Amino acid sequence: MLRVDQAGEYGATRIYAGQLAVLGDRHPIARSIAAMAAQEERHRERFDRLMAERRVRPTALTPLWDVAGFGLGVATALLGPEAAMACTAAIETEIDNHYGKQLVQLGASDTELSETIAEFREEEVEHRDTALAAGAEQAPAYPLLSAAIRLGCRMAIGLSQRI
Ligand SMILES: [Fe+2]
Ligand SMILES: [Fe+2]
Repeated sequence: MLRVDQAGEYGATRIYAGQLAVLGDRHPIARSIAAMAAQEERHRERFDRLMAERRVRPTALTPLWDVAGFGLGVATALLGPEAAMACTAAIETEIDNHYGKQLVQLGASDTELSETIAEFREEEVEHRDTALAAGAEQAPAYPLLSAAIRLGCRMAIGLSQRI
C-alpha cells in the first residue's frame, strides 16, 4: 500500500509541475494548482517517511512516473486551463476510490496508516471539487479526456502495486 501510495503522490507532484511549467505563475489558475501541488508534496513526504520507517522499497517505476506525470501535466495544460482541471478531477476521482478501498482493507489493523490515508483522501476530494468548480467539465472532449486519464491512473495504480 505504501509503495503504490507514495508512487501516486509522487506522480501528482510531477503532473502539477508539468502544468505549472506551461501555465507559469501569472495565470489565475496557477495559484490554485500551486496550492494543490503543495499538498501533494506534503502527502509524498509523509509516505516517504513511512516507507523509510517500515523499510518498504519504492516502486521501480519512479522514473516512468516522473516522465509520464510531467508529460501528462504539460499536455493537459497545453489543451487549456479547463483540461488541466479535468486532469485533476479525473485523477482525484480514481484516488478517492483507491484510498477508499485501502481504508476498507486496512480496517482497524494499522491506525497510523489509515489515519494518514483518510486525511489525504479528504484533501484529494477537495482537489477534485476545486477542479470541477474551476470548469473541468468545460474542457475539450471532456468525457473522452476524463475516461482516458482515469484509465491511465488505474493502470498506474496496478503497475505500482506489483513492480
Ligand atoms: Fe495527494
Ligand atoms: Fe490531490
